[in-house]
Amino acid sequence: MQLENVQVEIREQVGWITLNRPQSLNALCAALVSDIGRALEALEADDDVAVIVLTGSEKAFAAGADIKEMKDKTFQQVLAENFITDGWERVTDCRKPVIAAVAGYALGGGCELAMMCDFIIAADNARFGQPEVTIGTIPGAGGSQRLTRLVGKSKAMDMCLSGRMMDAEEAERAGLVSRVVPLASLQDEVHGIAKSIASYSRPVVSLAKQAVNAALETTLSEGVRSERRMFYSTFALEDQKEGMAAFAEKRKPDYRNR
Ligand code: CAA
Repeated sequence: MQLENVQVEIREQVGWITLNRPQSLNALCAALVSDIGRALEALEADDDVAVIVLTGSEKAFAAGADIKEMKDKTFQQVLAENFITDGWERVTDCRKPVIAAVAGYALGGGCELAMMCDFIIAADNARFGQPEVTIGTIPGAGGSQRLTRLVGKSKAMDMCLSGRMMDAEEAERAGLVSRVVPLASLQDEVHGIAKSIASYSRPVVSLAKQAVNAALETTLSEGVRSERRMFYSTFALEDQKEGMAAFAEKRKPDYRNR
């Protein structure tokens, strides 16, 4: 599919969305956010795609919302147009797994977009931050909420109040990213991870994603109850029978996604 601000490629059941606005370090202007939404829509509807990866360039995943596009907006305008709302959270509605492959800057809205994905794999040159305070504003795409849930209050407060950047190693230590890999192998490593997820039963992967997400939205006891219901529901799938039979018979499972 042809979109102006993103490249879309499908390889071995993995749909890659590459942000492509290099002149502004992938600053998230309205057109780029809309293109990400259209790409997600297409990949989610495509049966050849099991896992989606969102990535940027070696220099920047995304350097934030587009400051030049928003700098002159008035309070009435941002309120009336529901600024940073329509389309921005699209990735959180995606039922297929979405991995953020982050190299370079993931700042402001860029860090927020990465945190909306299911998990983040960082290249060793990645830098994360919520620098909005340095330009007279605060995070507006969920940064104060998701960062706090991921790294805790102290570090989230530090990041949002000082506007400093976190390197990849600190981000992994803090729990913001799941793994750090060398920049040169970021694409290969993430593709390998995505392919291994794609090799499992799609309905089971989807339930696992829903179960983990419930942890952020509910109490522990309700989360455990909902996990138990989803666990039981896997026993209605042929793929659960196949997976466990294959283990017992010491062979590779042949999942049919049903
Ligand atoms: N919006 C618009 N343009 C941006 C941008 C942004 N967020 N970030 C970078 N650019 C543009 C620069 O203006 C520059 O364009 P020109 O060549 O036309 O001058 C180009 O991208 C390259 O950037 P730099 O020359 O600044 O590159 P650098 O390597 O010297 O610095 C950087 C890189 C540290 C990331 C720096 O660009 C920077 O600080 N960017 C802004 C980061 C930021 O404040 N992000 C938060 C935005 S607010 C937000 O996101 C709100 C929200 O929560 C939704």
